[in-house]
Order: sequence, then C-alpha cells, then structure tokens
Amino acid sequence: MMELSEKQADFVAATANFVQKTLKNAEGGHDWFHTQRVYKNAMLIAKGEKVDLFIVALGALLHDIADSKFYDGDETVGPKIAQDFLDQHKVEKRVTDHVILIIKNISFKGGNRAKEFDSTELQVVQDADRLDAIGAIGIARTFNYGGFKNRKLHDPEVKPRMDMDAETYKKSAAPTINHFYEKLLLLKDRMNTETARKIAEDRHKYMEGFLEQFYGEWEGSR
Ligand code: NI
Repeated sequence: MMELSEKQADFVAATANFVQKTLKNAEGGHDWFHTQRVYKNAMLIAKGEKVDLFIVALGALLHDIADSKFYDGDETVGPKIAQDFLDQHKVEKRVTDHVILIIKNISFKGGNRAKEFDSTELQVVQDADRLDAIGAIGIARTFNYGGFKNRKLHDPEVKPRMDMDAETYKKSAAPTINHFYEKLLLLKDRMNTETARKIAEDRHKYMEGFLEQFYGEWEGSR
C-alpha cells in the first residue's frame, strides 16, 4: 500500500468535510458516522492489499453521499454529486472515473445481479461497508432501519425468504429479525479480503449470540 502524498491527504480531508456537511440531516444508518466508520475500516483493510490508497479513501468517503431511498430510489444522484465535487476540484479523470465506478457498484441489492465492474479498490471499500452492516453496529443499524420502515421486530409466522430479487428486497415489509437471515448472516462469506474476513468472523459470532439471546427472551426462557 502506498501512502498518500501531502496534497492527496489534504484533499481527502476536504472531501471528508464536504461529506460531513452534505450528510448533516441523513438518516442514522447512512449518516456521516457510518461513512467515517467505513473510511476507517477501508484504511485498515487497505494495509493488507495492493491498492491506490487515494482512490480507496475517496471511494469510502463518497460511497453514500446520496441515499437513493430519499430520492425516489434514484441511484444516479449519488454518483452525480460525487462526480460534480471531484470535477470541481480538478481531480484526475483516471481517479474520478474509478471512484464513480466504486460508488455505482458497491451496493448489495439483494438477488443475484451480476457484477459489472471489479477492482481491488472496489473490493476494499465494499468489504469496509459490509463490515459496518454486521456485528453490534450492524444490529443497531438494522433495527434503526426497521423502525424507519415501521417493521415488526420479529414475527414467528413470517419466515425469511432467500429467493428475493432486487425489487422484492426493496419492497419487503418483513420483520427486522428476518433481515439477519436474508442478508447479515450471509455477509461473512462474501468478504473479498483476508483482513475483512477475519473481522467478519468475530462480528458474525456476536450476531449469532444476539439471536440466541433474543429468541431466549422472546420465549421467556432467559
Ligand atoms: Ni454504506
């Protein structure tokens, strides 16, 4: 991993500033603090990989600059804001193009959509984002989102569905606990890098312990 030059480090700091301001009123699961955690995860994972650190840093900072669910599901808003910001600051086209591809391709949309682009930089940012979806933070974010969608915590009658395509997944009104089976518990096996895989193991065990405790309390046996 190469280090950032002084000029690059300055621009990364300016980008962090811009993102923090832009996400001032964002929802709790995708706010500045989420971005900050993803950035930290990404920097940690990047240490074990051969990547352009500048691209990883900018990709991590800009990956959730606009949450499509607040723009009528429009997924072009985020990449556009990022593109405008990078163009405005005359960032090299090679870097900007790569960062935009990261933003466009990072998301888990459910279903089995084929990957349209891949790079080690994308893999690092994707792992960093996925790590923030599991463990204690993942649990907190999941119930926060469930509350935002007015979903039940749990309903023993509604079984998890493993066959959802992207659209069904978005519209799903299933209880929040189901989300563990439909997404969160699958993430540890989807990590791209060794570093993320190791961290994911721990966070995965933590979620399994949480579910065990949850069902115990649900049944009144704990
Ligand atoms: Ni994210």
